[in-house]
Amino acid sequence: MDSKIDKILETDTSIRVYRLYSAIQIMPQLIKPEIESFYAQTSEENRLELGLGPLEFERNKELISRYLPKKKGVIIDVGGGPGVYSEWLAGLGHEVHLVDPVEKHIKQANKRSAKAKKSFKSILGESRKLELPDNFADVVILHGPLYHLQLKEDRIKSITEAKRVLKPNGVALGFAINHSASTIAGLLNGFIHVPELYAMCKEELTTGRHDPPKNMPGILPSAYYHRPLQLRDEFEEAGLVYVDTYAVEGMIWMDKNYFETRGDAKKKEAIMELLRITENDQALLSLSPHMMIAGKKAMIG
Ligand SMILES: C[S@@+](CC[C@H](N)C(=O)[O-])C[C@H]1O[C@@H](n2cnc3c(N)ncnc32)[C@H](O)[C@@H]1O
Repeated sequence: MDSKIDKILETDTSIRVYRLYSAIQIMPQLIKPEIESFYAQTSEENRLELGLGPLEFERNKELISRYLPKKKGVIIDVGGGPGVYSEWLAGLGHEVHLVDPVEKHIKQANKRSAKAKKSFKSILGESRKLELPDNFADVVILHGPLYHLQLKEDRIKSITEAKRVLKPNGVALGFAINHSASTIAGLLNGFIHVPELYAMCKEELTTGRHDPPKNMPGILPSAYYHRPLQLRDEFEEAGLVYVDTYAVEGMIWMDKNYFETRGDAKKKEAIMELLRITENDQALLSLSPHMMIAGKKAMIG
């Protein structure tokens, strides 16, 4: 055979083999199987409408708003799930790119975007390797990766990627679950004395690792729950300039009559005020199930 044709065929075959190999290699590595099956069994689409969800949604929008560009900006919603926040951000006039490793969420996000007044783009991808250019975004939101990635090196990789895609002066907003969250909930709800849950809480308090009992599906699978200062250390280690850490729900979710309070406009405003005046109180941060950290990319470096 002509050696030129031989070369083309050989290259063509190796490209195809390489692509197949990459697909096999990359797809299973995108996300742990237990995370995929957790989201297959639960509905992330209406999580923010149930229980403490409305408070989380209201507060996250309030906190994120403080860092949004005044004019139209580029926002990356990493771990954006079915796109509830992306829809809101696109509605404010921003160019939004959602990134999530769960196919079900990307399909839901695409549907949501098609129905929305302002559309947004969704990418099947993962926080440790964003398929986006350098110096591209005004704000990167990490809402998922910081607790879903159990290894520190993976979280640092994700924050470093966020920094890479940010424009100089751009802001990364990281959402984390507090290391004390399950324990406080367990003490309030009485499940702390269930031996497997007690062991889980003890591990979270001492190491940050969250590994739910095998016989209790429905609890978030293996994850990492931060101490407030650790979250700051990770942002700084990844090269971001620390701005602040905020309590998302603060301590108001512990109101004995929480749902009654939410239904009474005056009482609701009163506890929201308590939350706002303590949102940056470092001594109280661990009473909040979720925290948001803000870190800036320096103009140089
Ligand atoms: C609890 S959901 C939050 C979804 C959305 N941010 C919200 O608050 O409504 C966490 C999301 O993080 C995604 N996720 C998990 N690991 C991730 C990773 N390494 N990179 C990006 N997203 C990830 C999950 O697929 C899921 O959609």
